[in-house]
Amino acid sequence: MRIGIDFGTSYSAAGAVVDGRLELVRFGSEQQFRTTAYFPQALPDPAKFELTPALEAEVDALVRASRADQARAAARARELHSAAGGSGPAFVPRSEAQLRRDALLVVRRHWLEAEIARASQTVAQLHDAVYGDAAIDAYLEEGEGHLVVSPKSMLGYKLHGAARDVLVGIALHILEHIRMTASEQFGTTVRHAVLGRPVEFRSSMGAAGGQQAIELLTEAARGAGFDEVTFLEEPAAAAFGYHRELATMQRTLVVDIGGGTTDIASADVGGAGAAPAIRGAWGIPQGGTDVDLGLSMRRFMPLFGKDHTRTPVHHYYEAAAVHDLQRQHAFRSRTSFQDVPAPYGERLIRLQEPGNTVRLQRAVEDAKVALSSQPGHETELAYIEPGLRTSSSVDDLTLAAEPYLRAFSTLLNDVRARLDRLPDTVFLTGGMSRAPYVQGAVRSAFPEAELVHGNASLGVVSGLAAAAG
Ligand SMILES: Nc1ncnc2c1ncn2[C@@H]1O[C@H](COP(=O)(O)OP(=O)(O)OP(=O)(O)O)[C@@H](O)[C@H]1O
Ligand SMILES: [Mg+2]
Repeated sequence: MRIGIDFGTSYSAAGAVVDGRLELVRFGSEQQFRTTAYFPQALPDPAKFELTPALEAEVDALVRASRADQARAAARARELHSAAGGSGPAFVPRSEAQLRRDALLVVRRHWLEAEIARASQTVAQLHDAVYGDAAIDAYLEEGEGHLVVSPKSMLGYKLHGAARDVLVGIALHILEHIRMTASEQFGTTVRHAVLGRPVEFRSSMGAAGGQQAIELLTEAARGAGFDEVTFLEEPAAAAFGYHRELATMQRTLVVDIGGGTTDIASADVGGAGAAPAIRGAWGIPQGGTDVDLGLSMRRFMPLFGKDHTRTPVHHYYEAAAVHDLQRQHAFRSRTSFQDVPAPYGERLIRLQEPGNTVRLQRAVEDAKVALSSQPGHETELAYIEPGLRTSSSVDDLTLAAEPYLRAFSTLLNDVRARLDRLPDTVFLTGGMSRAPYVQGAVRSAFPEAELVHGNASLGVVSGLAAAAG
C-alpha cells in the first residue's frame, strides 16, 4: 500500500485510497497534527563531542592510514612522472595538519552517527516522543529534553557541522510516527509513500537548498522504514484532489497558502482522465509564519523592550524565530539581559526559560488567526509577568502582513502574465487561505475567476492520497 504524506511546515497529515475510497490517517482524534515534536531524552548534541582517549586513538589510526595511502600515491605519481619523461602533474601531499583535520572530521561524524543510531534504536525514546500540540505541554512540564518546531523550514538551510544529521533524525522520527500510525490503522505494513514538496523550499542557498531538502527528506524517509518515496509538488497534489470531485473539465489555478510556503499550479481538472494535466507551477518560500513573525516584531516584542531599549533588534528576532534551532539556542544563551532596564530585562529573562518563546509564538499565531474574523484580540502573558496582557487590532495585523501580501500579489501577477489562458476558477487551499486579506489579494489579481474554497487544512493531503492510490 502506498500512502500520501503532507509533511507541512505547520501541520502534517497522511492518507490513502482504500477500496476506491479516500481515507485519512487519524492521529488521536484529529486528521492532522502540529509538526512539532518533543523528545524527552535530549537528542544527540553535536557540541558534546569530546576527544576521549579511544577517539584520539581512532584519529591517530586514520592519520596513519592516510599517510600510508599518501606515500603509495606519491610513489605511483613519481613512476608516472618519470615514465612520461618528467612531464605531467606533480603530486602535492597534504600536510600533517590537514590529514589530522580530515581524520578529526571523520571521527566526529562517526561519533554523531553512533549517537543518533543509539537514540533511535531505543524504542522507548521513539514511543516516548510526543507530537503535535501536546509536545509543548510535555516540554513545559518536563523543562528538559528537546522541542522541535517546524523542522521543514530548516531543510533548505546551510547546516553547520552535525546539524544536518540532527535534522534528518528529527524528520525521520516524525515520518516514522506517520508510518506506524498509518500501518496500524490500515492493518498492513506501509512501506511506500508519495511525499508533498513545495515548488520552492525555504532556503538560504537558492536552488541548492531545495536540492538538499529533497536529499534530507529522502534519507529520513528511508530511515523511517519507507522502501520507496516519490515527491509531488503540493499544489499539483491539491489539483489531483479537486480533479476527483469534478465531472466536467475546467482550467483552474490552485493556490495553496501554507505556513512556510505559497504554491500555485495551473491545471486542467475534472472529466474522465485519471489525473489532472498540470500546465505549470510557481511558488515563493513565504507563508503564514512570516506574517506571525511580522506581528510578533511589531506588536509583541515591544513588550520586551524592542523600540524602548538599546537591546539589539536581532535578539528579538532570535526569540521570535522558533523554528530556527540555532537562533533559539543563541537567544537562550544570552547573558546580557540583566542589564536591560526594568521591566524589560526581567521579561526577557522569563522569555529565555524553556518553552516560553514557543508559547509566545503560539499566542502571536492565535492573535493572527483571531484577527481573520474579529477586529481586535486580547493576549494574556502571565507566564512572563503576573497581569501582563496586550491587545492587537486588525490595523496591527495589516501592517505586519504587508511585506508578505506584497510578495504574494507580485507572485499572483507574475503567474497571471505567464498563463496562456486565464483560469475559470481559482481553487484555494492551505490554512492561510482562510484569511480575508489573502482572499482579497487573489480576488484583485483574478477578478474574473470564480473562487472555490477547498478544504483549507486537508486539500493537499487528500490530493497526495489520491495520487498515491
Ligand atoms: N483562520 C485563519 N486565519 C489566518 N491564518 C490561518 C487561519 N487558520 C490557519 N492559519 C494559518 O495557516 C498556516 C498553516 O497552514 P497549513 O496547515 O496549510 O500549512 P502547512 O501545510 O503546514 O505549511 P506548508 O504547506 O507551507 O509547508 C499557519 O500559518 C496558520 O496560522
Ligand atoms: Mg501545506
